[in-house]
Amino acid sequence: MFHAPIVPRVRKRSRPAEAGVARHEAVKFEDVRLYLVERKMGSSRRSFLTQLARTKGFIVDDILSDVVTHVVSEDCEAPSLWTWLKECGLRNLPNMHVLDISWFTDSMREGRPVAVETRHLIQDTLPTLPGCSTPTPVARVSQYACQRRTTTENNNKILTDAFEVLAESYELNQLEGPCLAFRRAASVLKSLPWAVQCLGATQGLPCLGEHTKALIEEILQYGHSFEVEKILSDERYQTLKLFTSVFGVGPKTAEKWYRRGLRSFSDILAEPSIQLNRMQQSGFLHYGDISRAVSKAEARALGNIIDEAVHAITPDGILALTGGFRRGKEFGHDVDFIVTTPEQGKEETLLPNIIDRLKEQGILLYSDYQTSTFDISKLPSHKFEAMDHFAKCFLILRLEGSLVDRGLNSTEGDSRGWRAVRVDLVSPPMERYAYALLGWTGSRQFERDLRRFARLEQHMLLDNHALYDKTKKEFLAATTERDIFAHLGLEYIEPWQRNA
Ligand code: CTP
Ligand code: MN
Ligand code: MN
Repeated sequence: MFHAPIVPRVRKRSRPAEAGVARHEAVKFEDVRLYLVERKMGSSRRSFLTQLARTKGFIVDDILSDVVTHVVSEDCEAPSLWTWLKECGLRNLPNMHVLDISWFTDSMREGRPVAVETRHLIQDTLPTLPGCSTPTPVARVSQYACQRRTTTENNNKILTDAFEVLAESYELNQLEGPCLAFRRAASVLKSLPWAVQCLGATQGLPCLGEHTKALIEEILQYGHSFEVEKILSDERYQTLKLFTSVFGVGPKTAEKWYRRGLRSFSDILAEPSIQLNRMQQSGFLHYGDISRAVSKAEARALGNIIDEAVHAITPDGILALTGGFRRGKEFGHDVDFIVTTPEQGKEETLLPNIIDRLKEQGILLYSDYQTSTFDISKLPSHKFEAMDHFAKCFLILRLEGSLVDRGLNSTEGDSRGWRAVRVDLVSPPMERYAYALLGWTGSRQFERDLRRFARLEQHMLLDNHALYDKTKKEFLAATTERDIFAHLGLEYIEPWQRNA
C-alpha cells in the first residue's frame, strides 16, 4: 500500500516574512522578532545562535524585513553596520532596536527578552548635526519616557508649548487618544539636549506622527501655528480653561457651565441655581493666591511647617518632598509631601493628627481628608485608577511671608503678608514607601510610561502600591526607587531627570 508522506503542519500566519521559516519550538515571545546579522558572526555561529534562541521560544527571522523588532550584530564597526542597514531599504528601521551581542546573551541567560538598555545599543554614529537640512540620524531615543533623561531645561519650548495647547484642547473635548499622542510627542522633544531647527532633525525620533510633523514644520517656518492660534482664540477653549483653573472644577463641570451659557466667574457666582461644593467654594475664595505659582522658597517654608508637625506627633516620623519640587522645578502649582512612620499601622492616624495641629495653629484654610482604602489582598489591580488607595489630604494652607526666604511670590506689592498655598500630603504604610515615592514624584508622563513599559516590555503591573510580575506570579519587594528600576530592568533615572 502506498502512503502519502506525512507533512508536518506549520501553523499558518498572515505575515509574509514568516513564509518558509520552519518552526519546531513553541513561540513564547510573540512581540519580539530577532534578526541576526551574519557579517562578522559567520554562518555557522549564526545558525547555532538561531537554533538556541528558537529553543528558548524566540522568533528568529532568516530575512531582514520591516517586521523585525530586534537586530543583533557582532559587528562592532557601527558606521559600516548602519550604512548596510540603511541600504536594506527598510521603512521601519527607526523603530528597530539595533543591538550588540550582549543583549542576545543576556536574553538567552534570562530565558526571556531583557529590556533594551543603552549599553546594548549599537549607536548610529554618523554625525548628528542639529539644525542641518539633511536627514540626520539621532542617537536612538526611546519611545518610553522612563528610558529618557529629561531635565527642567527644555530646548524646544516653542514646539512643546504648541503641542500642549493641542493636547489640552483634545483633553477638554474628552478625546483621550489624540491628547495622549500630543503629550507623548511633547515629552520626546523635551528630552532632546538640542533645539530642533529643521524637520529633518526629527527623523528617527519616536512618537512623532504626521500631524505633529506638520506643526513642527509650520512653527519652524512661520514662528507660530495657525491651528494653535485658532484654538487659543476660541471662546469655548478659553472659557473651559478658565473654569478648570479653579480648584475643584474638572472638565465635566466646566463643560456643563459652558453649555448653560456661563462665560465668566461672575456669571457663575451670580447664578442662583449653581450649588458650588466645598472644594469649589475654597477654589473661588482663594483663586488669586492658588492660581499663582508656588516658589521653591515657599515650598521649603511649607516643608518646615509640615516637618515640625510630623515630629511633634511622632519623633520617628518620616517626611519627604515629592512631586514637581523633588524633580527640581523652580515653581509648582502645589507642594507634595509623603509622610509616614516605621511603626506599622501608625501612619493611619498621622494625617488626621497633622490636620488637627495645622487647625490649632490657625493656618488650615481648607482640608479634604481621604482615609486609606489600601488592601494588599486586592492587588494587583489590572486597570490603573487615577487615585491610589493611600490615606491622603488635599489642603489649602496659610503661609506667612515672614517664614519665606526673601518673601512671598506675589505680583502686586500687596501688604497682606501671607498667601494661600495648595499642599498635598499622602501617607502610605512604610513597606509601600518606595512605590508611593516613585508614583508621586512624577511627572505624570514619566509615570504613564513606567506603567506602560512594565506592562508591555516586562509583563509586569506597576502602580503607586506595588509591582507584580505576571510571569512569576509574585509581588516584587522594594525599599528604594533603585530597587524598582532594577526589577523593571531599567537604568536608574534621577528625580531631576524625570521631567518628561
Ligand atoms: N499623583 C498621584 N495620585 C494622585 C495625585 C497625584 O499619583 N491622586 C502623582 C501624579 O502622578 C504626579 C505627582 O503625584 O506625578 C504630583 O502631582 P501634581 O502635584 O499634580 O503634579 P506635579 O508634577 O507636582 O506638578 P506641579 O508642580 O504643577 O504641582
Ligand atoms: Mn505638585
Ligand atoms: Mn499635587
